[in-house]
Amino acid sequence: MSTAKNKPRLGVIGCGAIAQEIVRAVREGVVNANIIVMMDIYPEKCQKLAEMLTEKPSIVTSIDDFLQADIDYAIEAASQQAVREYGEKILSKGVSLVVLSVGALLDPDTRHKLEKAAEESGARIYAPTGAIAGLDAVRAARIAGIETVKLRTIKPAKSLGVNVDKPTKLYEGPAHEAVKLYPFNINVAAALSLAAGKEAQVEIIADPNATRNTHIIIVESPATRIEIKVENTPSKTNPKTSWLAALSAIELLRRITSTDPLLVGS
Ligand SMILES: NC(=O)c1ccc[n+]([C@@H]2O[C@H](COP(=O)([O-])OP(=O)(O)OC[C@H]3O[C@@H](n4cnc5c(N)ncnc54)[C@H](O)[C@@H]3O)[C@@H](O)[C@H]2O)c1
Repeated sequence: MSTAKNKPRLGVIGCGAIAQEIVRAVREGVVNANIIVMMDIYPEKCQKLAEMLTEKPSIVTSIDDFLQADIDYAIEAASQQAVREYGEKILSKGVSLVVLSVGALLDPDTRHKLEKAAEESGARIYAPTGAIAGLDAVRAARIAGIETVKLRTIKPAKSLGVNVDKPTKLYEGPAHEAVKLYPFNINVAAALSLAAGKEAQVEIIADPNATRNTHIIIVESPATRIEIKVENTPSKTNPKTSWLAALSAIELLRRITSTDPLLVGS
């Protein structure tokens, strides 16, 4: 068993809804790691989360101070802007980066900069599956070739910031535009596109009666036709975010920091 001393060392950027679940998972030992440093533009948000931990992390507001801490993994749970602003610096220092605001990686320039920094330092970039399912099968199908990738997202109208009286299509088009127009709602389109190696065609529907965040994924390949529907419970603290997205990040962290002898799923 690893001791507190050799546990992986984590830094968290963005102390909101997803970070709260990650902190809880570390506190409960689901993720066998220590949180060393936390950063937010509103440090009081980190303060609140730090209270949940027995070993108190340092709380900072700048990326330079964040990188003063000796960490193995940085978890970005903040915004696409945070990925663009801090990603390259983190990776250049040899710190691996878990990106939640995956939409940022659909910008070719950002992706190239981050990949180059990671290649040069030996760090890695992790994009968790997030609020969807089946990226393992999508990655497998990609080996045979993928013909089409579609995503249909239905969310409560309020969390999309509109007031409509019946289900209304707000957007239809490529994923890279969707993540720009709805940066806090459609990161799944980015994860799906990156897994498929092909840009997803996206529909976003605002439903005044919906209580869940629903994603329907359809992938056509000579090897398989995948149709997956995921109906997520929204996070209590941020209804734009699905609880599953936080759990997916936790599972990724659990897996990369664990020494499990048996790994299930590809
Ligand atoms: N991959 C997925 O499936 C998925 C699912 C849901 C949410 N997300 C994304 O994950 C991110 C976090 O989601 P959340 O629900 O925890 O959000 P949240 O709004 O609850 O918390 C975000 C926190 O980050 C802080 N922040 C924002 N920009 C920052 C910056 N540049 N530097 C430092 N701190 C900054 C904010 O002050 C806030 O406290 C969002 O970008 C969201 O779109 C991804």
